[in-house]
Amino acid sequence: MNILCSHFGKCGGCQTQNLDYNIQLLEKENFVREIFKEFNVEDFQKIIPSPDIWYYRNKMEFVFGKEKNGEIIAGLREKNKFYKVVDLKECRISVDEVSEILEIAKKWAKENNLQPYDFFTHKGKLRYIVVKHSKTYNEIMLNVIVTGTKYQIQNNEKEIFEDIVKRYNSLSSVSSIYLSINNNVSDNAIPQEIFHLYGKKYIKEDINGIEYLISPTIFLQTNPRCCKDLYRLILDEIIEGNTLDLYCGSGGITLQIAKYKPVGKIIGIDASKENIEVAFENLKINSISLDIVEFINENVENFLLKLWKSKFLSNLSNVILDPPRPGLSKKVKSIINEINANKIIYVSCNPKTLYEDLKSFIKFYKIKKIIPIDMFPHTPHIEIICVLEHR
Ligand SMILES: C[S@@+](CC[C@H](N)C(=O)[O-])C[C@H]1O[C@@H](n2cnc3c(N)ncnc32)[C@H](O)[C@@H]1O
Repeated sequence: MNILCSHFGKCGGCQTQNLDYNIQLLEKENFVREIFKEFNVEDFQKIIPSPDIWYYRNKMEFVFGKEKNGEIIAGLREKNKFYKVVDLKECRISVDEVSEILEIAKKWAKENNLQPYDFFTHKGKLRYIVVKHSKTYNEIMLNVIVTGTKYQIQNNEKEIFEDIVKRYNSLSSVSSIYLSINNNVSDNAIPQEIFHLYGKKYIKEDINGIEYLISPTIFLQTNPRCCKDLYRLILDEIIEGNTLDLYCGSGGITLQIAKYKPVGKIIGIDASKENIEVAFENLKINSISLDIVEFINENVENFLLKLWKSKFLSNLSNVILDPPRPGLSKKVKSIINEINANKIIYVSCNPKTLYEDLKSFIKFYKIKKIIPIDMFPHTPHIEIICVLEHR
C-alpha cells in the first residue's frame, strides 16, 4: 500500500494512490496496448515513469465551498460528487505549502465576511484559488477567482483584496498574486478579466535548459520534470525540413526544436492570444532567433485552410499535433492528410480520441511508434506520443 494523503478515498483528485507505482504503470501500459491493439504498431514502447510521483503538478485549481454549519472550506471536489468540496489540509501532488495557502484564504474569507460561490443559486463571491508552482525556482503564483465587477474590485472591495496580499506576505515562496473575475454560470476557473495584485507578472520554469514564462492563463505541461522526457522524445523524431507545431500552447515544443534541432523553419499555431504573446516573450528570454521561428495566433482549422499558398509547405517534413482532450476536427484531419508531411508526431492526453483520430490517418500513414508517458501519477490519466510515417 502506497497511500500517503489523509484525504485519499474521499477526494476526487488522485484515485489510484492505493496502488504501488509499478502496478499503476503496468495498468496504464496495458490499457494503452489494449486500445491500440487493432493497429499495426511497429514499435510499442514501455511506459516512461514520472521522475517525481509526489508534488509533481505545477498547476492546481482549488475550489471554495461551505460546510453545512456555514464554515468556509477550500479544496478539491469530492470523488463522484461534483457539488461537494473536500476541505484539504494537504495535497501530495501539488506543493508542500497547500495547507498554509488554503488556510490563509479561508481565514481571509471568514474575517472579510465573503461567501463561496454556489453554482446552484449562482450567488456568492469566491470561486477558485489557482496555485501555479515553478518546480525549478520554487516560486508560487496565486490567482484568486471571484464574481463581481471591475468597479467593485477597484473601489468598495479594494481593501479586501489588499488584505489578502498582506496575508500572503507570510509565505516567502508566494511571489506573484492575481485576482480574476469570472461571472460565467458554467463551473470553471477560466478568468474573464485579470488584475495583477502583487509581485512578479510572470514566474519561470526550466525545461531542458529552456526557460518558460508562467502567467495565470498560459498553457504549460502540468508535470514539468516529466515533460523533459516528453520533449526529448519528440526531438528525437524530428527530421530535416520544416515543422508545423499545431496547438503549440506558449511554444513548449517549438522552442525545444528551435534550440536543439534547428533543421528547418518552425511555425507554432495556437488559438489563445495570451499563449502566443508569451511564446514570443519566451523566444526573447531564451535568445532564440525569429529567423527560424514564427508564432501565429489562429485557429488551427483556419490556419490550415490558408497554408496552401505558402512556400513553407514545399519543404514540410514534420507535423506536431497536441490538441486539447476532444482531439482533432474532421476538417483538420482531412487537411493534414492532404498536406503530405513525411512525419506526424501526435501528442495526446486522451487515448480514446487519439484512437479515433488515428483511424483517419492510417490510409496514408503507418504507425511507427507508440510511447506512453506517465505525466499524471495516482490518476487514470496518461500522455501518449504516437509517431506516424508516410507510406
Ligand atoms: C495540450 S495544449 C498544447 C501544449 C503544447 N504543445 C505544449 O507542449 O506546451 C493544447 C493547446 O491547444 C490550444 N487550442 C485549443 N483549440 C485550438 C484550436 N482550435 N486551434 C488552435 N489552438 C487551439 C489551446 O490554447 C492549448 O494551448
